[in-house]
Amino acid sequence: MPHLSVDDYAIAARELVDSKVWDFVCGGGGAEITLAANRHIFDTAMIRPRILVDVSICDTSRLLLGDRWPSPIGIAPTAYHTLLHPEGELATAQGANGAPMVVSIFAGQPLEEIAKRATGPLWLQLYWLQRRDVMTSLAKRAHDAGFRALMLTVDAPRIGRRLRDMRNGFAIPPHIQAVNLDETVMAATHQPDGIAKHAALTFDQRVTWADLAWLKSLTDLPLVLKGVLTAEDAALAVEHGVDAIVVSNHGGRQLDGAVPAMRALPEVVAAVDGRCPVLVDGGIRHGRDVFVALASGASAVLIGRPVLWALAAGGASGVGELLSLLNAEFEHTMALAGRPRAEEITRSALYG
Ligand SMILES: Cc1cc2nc3c(=O)[nH]c(=O)nc-3n(C[C@H](O)[C@H](O)[C@H](O)COP(=O)(O)O)c2cc1C
Repeated sequence: MPHLSVDDYAIAARELVDSKVWDFVCGGGGAEITLAANRHIFDTAMIRPRILVDVSICDTSRLLLGDRWPSPIGIAPTAYHTLLHPEGELATAQGANGAPMVVSIFAGQPLEEIAKRATGPLWLQLYWLQRRDVMTSLAKRAHDAGFRALMLTVDAPRIGRRLRDMRNGFAIPPHIQAVNLDETVMAATHQPDGIAKHAALTFDQRVTWADLAWLKSLTDLPLVLKGVLTAEDAALAVEHGVDAIVVSNHGGRQLDGAVPAMRALPEVVAAVDGRCPVLVDGGIRHGRDVFVALASGASAVLIGRPVLWALAAGGASGVGELLSLLNAEFEHTMALAGRPRAEEITRSALYG
């Protein structure tokens, strides 16, 4: 059966994936209020289509941080792709079909091997570790392997209370390793509730804005800040020389009750005022959602869970088909909404 919607990948993956891994991937923090709210915004957004516009050619491409993306859709950083497919991030990178991929600090494959299989630009996502020597080495390895940006995730000084994982006693199986981190950094991960324990032991909770300069000094790569949800922090990010912002609540996995990313997007875009690109993630499940995000001021979007579903369901080709589907849906929406150029997808394309 061809997969005609992102949900079809979820249905296919659910059949194949262990139920505890499924909960780890699909679950959120606390009562999953933010997880549901992320999605609700897209379900209620309405488009104002224009008519009698030449839509014979719709240009979906996007220039971002010096690279031309085939569409405004990138792959969000998600840990341990090897939980979903034996080839893990190698398959994801190969299947990306030119789309940018953010590789998690907890990737299951070496950065250098992922770079060899990559079909689009790679960014490396970092959490701020107490071991700055490990961060330095990761940043330099990414630079040397040709990665195009570093992304610092700032919404997880601690790990959210993920009740599904706690009830399931979920632990990362011993054969799944974050191979880019050394054993001492990873020690606690394979115990029940190990992700939270590991973060408590190894993440640096004292980091503040003043520390960003150190991270920027490690390489000449652009720095992307992921997890911004307010105008105040967006302004501070720009003042501290951040090159792009991702408006995100970590797919509802961290602070439950945090504002849905799409609701925070307009105030962040207003505060940034064109000084750097603003991306958004959380709940994007259709090309129409990409259109809505751009109309709300995003330069591009990142996709999390659907990529993992497609990876489980079909490896590299599954990921490739998923991205083609999302891009085709986006292009189709552009045509039917009478906005054939991405720059023309402005606030006037939405109701209310
Ligand atoms: C299984 C899983 C693992 C994740 N791991 C990371 C991670 O290692 N680093 C990070 O910055 N965000 C991580 N995220 C958050 C994603 O980057 C992204 O913000 C979120 O998944 C977007 O929402 P969506 O899944 O609804 O598309 C993870 C999300 C999931 C579902």
